[in-house]
Amino acid sequence: MRLLNASGCLDALFAPDVACSLDVFVTKTVTPLAREGNEPIRIAETEAGMLNSIGLANPGIDRFLQETLPRLAALEVPIWVSVGGFCVEDYVVICERLDAEDVVAVVELNLSCPNVDEVPESVGEVVAAARKATTKPLYAKLSPAADVAETARAAENAGADGLSLVNTIKGLTLDERTLRPVLARGIGGLSGPVLRPVALAAVYACFRATALPIVGMGGVATGQDVLELLAAGASDVALGTVLFSDPGAPRRVRTEMEAELAARGFADADNAVGAAHGLDGSTLDRESRVATEKPLHTGAKMAG
Ligand SMILES: Cc1cc2nc3c(=O)[nH]c(=O)nc-3n(C[C@H](O)[C@H](O)[C@H](O)COP(=O)(O)O)c2cc1C
Repeated sequence: MRLLNASGCLDALFAPDVACSLDVFVTKTVTPLAREGNEPIRIAETEAGMLNSIGLANPGIDRFLQETLPRLAALEVPIWVSVGGFCVEDYVVICERLDAEDVVAVVELNLSCPNVDEVPESVGEVVAAARKATTKPLYAKLSPAADVAETARAAENAGADGLSLVNTIKGLTLDERTLRPVLARGIGGLSGPVLRPVALAAVYACFRATALPIVGMGGVATGQDVLELLAAGASDVALGTVLFSDPGAPRRVRTEMEAELAARGFADADNAVGAAHGLDGSTLDRESRVATEKPLHTGAKMAG
């Protein structure tokens, strides 16, 4: 089990110590051209979690490769680059450029940003095109909003090597007095505690629907939260919103998780993977897990 940051929730150059306390650093999503992002106000707190409408603000791939990546490489933490776009070609262009960069361990395809108007084409199409453009391992980052298991299968069939689950869900918060949206863009992406059951459900469903390794994320704030995502089927876990309020979270969460594992008699975190499915993660054969569990995804057995 590796502990990562969720894309966009940690600036490794601003907080290198925090980045170095993780097993992997995931960059903010990079697009072909530089983007200012949306107008402020772009972040608001709600009682259930955090709302953001950053809108993929980033320096663009040219400046990212020239300035950001060499500085990230100096941190000596494995680097995953999150890639975004508004058409298949956007993803292809960036994947081709990243392919030559030895320091990039994995490309995470952001197929799920709720804060831009231009929606990328179908997940399968993007993954298939990216697959041809790079030999790097590809993780598909998906939204929990649609039928995530079906989308995950499309990503797997198109050649994805893993899944990152989940991105934010849409939310709105209003100014109590004026009753106008707090965020300049109106609707934003909701993250934090509210997302935890949503993330658990997505990971649980995709674990049964595909044979892909899963990075679980969404509202993780404690070691118990990490353990539950592992039990649902994640093999790695990312910290997002919690990093804004607690930069020490990676170390704290690890210590808490060790205690939770020991209390339940797990030898290590990997042994807890799939526990919610009544499976022993240490001996789990991925192919047979998919073959035996698929009928459960038809929805036929779901009440309500
Ligand atoms: C301020 C902010 C910026 C984000 N930017 C990105 C991004 O650039 N790319 C991306 O794939 N996800 C982005 N996300 C989503 C997170 O990576 C993560 O999927 C989500 O916040 C759920 O995890 P959490 O509840 O632990 O924050 C962002 C989230 C926040 C709060």
